[in-house]
Amino acid sequence: MVPNKVERITVLGAGVMGHTIAQIAASTGFEVTVRDIAQEYIDNAKSRVERNLKRNVERGRMTEEEAQEALSRLSYSVDLAESVKDADLVIEAIPENLDLKRQVWGEVSVLARDDALLATNTSSLSITRIAEAVTKPERFIGMHFFNPPTHMRLVELIPGAGTDSTTLEGVRAVAERLGKTPVVVEKDVVGFIVNRVLITYLNEAAKLAESGEYTVEQVDAAMQYGAKMPLGPFMLSDLIGIDIVHHILKVFEENLDTTYKPAKSIVALFEAKKLGRKTGEGFYSYAERPSVDEAMGEGFDVNILLDVLIKEAEKVVAEGIAGREAIDTAMKLGANLPKGPFELKEGN
Ligand SMILES: NC(=O)c1ccc[n+]([C@@H]2O[C@H](COP(=O)([O-])OP(=O)(O)OC[C@H]3O[C@@H](n4cnc5c(N)ncnc54)[C@H](O)[C@@H]3O)[C@@H](O)[C@H]2O)c1
Repeated sequence: MVPNKVERITVLGAGVMGHTIAQIAASTGFEVTVRDIAQEYIDNAKSRVERNLKRNVERGRMTEEEAQEALSRLSYSVDLAESVKDADLVIEAIPENLDLKRQVWGEVSVLARDDALLATNTSSLSITRIAEAVTKPERFIGMHFFNPPTHMRLVELIPGAGTDSTTLEGVRAVAERLGKTPVVVEKDVVGFIVNRVLITYLNEAAKLAESGEYTVEQVDAAMQYGAKMPLGPFMLSDLIGIDIVHHILKVFEENLDTTYKPAKSIVALFEAKKLGRKTGEGFYSYAERPSVDEAMGEGFDVNILLDVLIKEAEKVVAEGIAGREAIDTAMKLGANLPKGPFELKEGN
């Protein structure tokens, strides 16, 4: 597949990420097919996309005509072979399970054209391990969108051990056409850039509150008002979902080292199924919308946690995963940090 020549995209999985990626692709001119395993998931995705496009029109983000054109470029299927046979690029957004992804990619890489580009949206699995199930793995790559893909500008591109440069350039061109800023992750290490730095920071924040020296509200208030973060680490953990934070830390613990072991409070919330906003309780209760004010942050030095971000970013550089500039860009666009870790370090 020649870069810039991708016109037809198939999205596997019509869940949280898949339906939104499909919506953006159809809105930016690609012909899109969405595949899920049962009609009810397809119906659900279809009505979500229609609702989102309608809202975009109401808010003046696109014209009625553009929305109709986007809808006309979208089709849906439960048939795997049918959905991938004409694709120039297949983007997979099915559940985060290595065996499932390998099984699906084993089938897709045979059913799709052998010059089709193949991309997984995994957030924590090894690209190289998934690629072992793929025929012609040189066309397989990680293409990691952030939630919600409509608003988050970053896409991490992660070549696996066997990915060739044509594949990287092909998906880079697609990411740009989707209106995203691609950042290349040079080494396929779990967590890539943003999750590695961000989730480690959330874990260290939890350990600090467990020490009893600081409270959850105090740390959140200081980070929000003092460090100008959009949300403190505990509200952010609740927003991301304690199950996702816990899962990613377990992957880090198993693949990196035991310092990434999930903090006790994260494990306790996970086991109690208090998963954050989506279940109504996590570090905070969501019976009413929690909030913190500036005064609550007194007594917590934000540098304690900013140093965690900086140190983890330095490890990412030392491990050859990405350079400083790429990390700063990724953390600003993928985690909404007001400044990148190296900008913080240099006081810029
Ligand atoms: N949710 C996030 O914040 C986020 C962010 C970045 C990346 N991701 C990654 O994106 C992927 C999908 O996550 P999600 O949150 O959208 O999950 P989700 O559970 O919302 O959606 C997954 C969808 O895949 C479908 N599915 C299952 N098996 C399938 C198959 N064989 N073929 C086609 N569809 C199949 C399911 O029915 C479901 O609709 C995961 O790898 C996840 O790690 C998620």
